Amino acid sequence: MCLSGLMTQREVCLEPLRSTSPGTGGLASLLMRRRSTRRFGTQPLSIAQVALMARAAQGRTTGERRSCPSAHASYPLTLTVVAGKVDGLAAGIYQYEPERDALTLIADGDHRDRVAGTTLVDHAWLREAAALLLLSGDLEAAVQHFADQQPLGRRGARYVWLEAGHASQNIYLQAAEADLGAVLVAGFDDDRLLGLTPAVVPSGQHPMGLFGVGHPDDRQSA
Ligand SMILES: Cc1cc2nc3c(=O)[nH]c(=O)nc-3n(C[C@H](O)[C@H](O)[C@H](O)COP(=O)(O)O)c2cc1C
Repeated sequence: MCLSGLMTQREVCLEPLRSTSPGTGGLASLLMRRRSTRRFGTQPLSIAQVALMARAAQGRTTGERRSCPSAHASYPLTLTVVAGKVDGLAAGIYQYEPERDALTLIADGDHRDRVAGTTLVDHAWLREAAALLLLSGDLEAAVQHFADQQPLGRRGARYVWLEAGHASQNIYLQAAEADLGAVLVAGFDDDRLLGLTPAVVPSGQHPMGLFGVGHPDDRQSA
């Protein structure tokens, strides 16, 4: 228990410092506002909002660096955008290209239902998200690259999963900053997602996290 203002030998109470801590502005406030959204409104996203989310996940920053840290700056992640209701962007599956800050069309049409249908439990609300964002990674390449690091054969994959976590939090925080709703859905059937035609997961990659993104419904729930 943290007793306000009390400092004992074994406990330092941080709560009273909350309002006086340096840097309580932007990021601290975003962290407080970050939430998973599972009720989406009918309003479409704009292409600028999709661009914002894509850059948060995998955008270029300085030189070849990206928005999230990467072991050996190897950047094994790919972001795929499954656009449904996005003003200025035709419904389709797009791959985000960080080098050119561009979306490359992989397949046209609205594929949200098929992708959302791969979740382990029925997430009907995921179909209502204006766009789905899929993070995938090249686990094999990472395993090879870090083959000489203990635990042999497992270190590389661990790094890619960690990186996907960084990218995921970036998506969450960018959504909070832009007053958008987002939720990470990692409970999906890998085989069904990998087996979709046209393909949503890039060849040779492993699906890691699926996000629903859209305008939050006013009836927002936990
Ligand atoms: C690794 C991971 C997997 C998740 N998978 C799902 C999922 O399959 N379905 C879902 O509705 N939410 C999923 N979530 C979101 C959590 O349920 C959510 O973060 C949690 O309820 C806490 O709520 P908050 O994000 O609003 O703080 C996942 C979150 C993480 C970090």
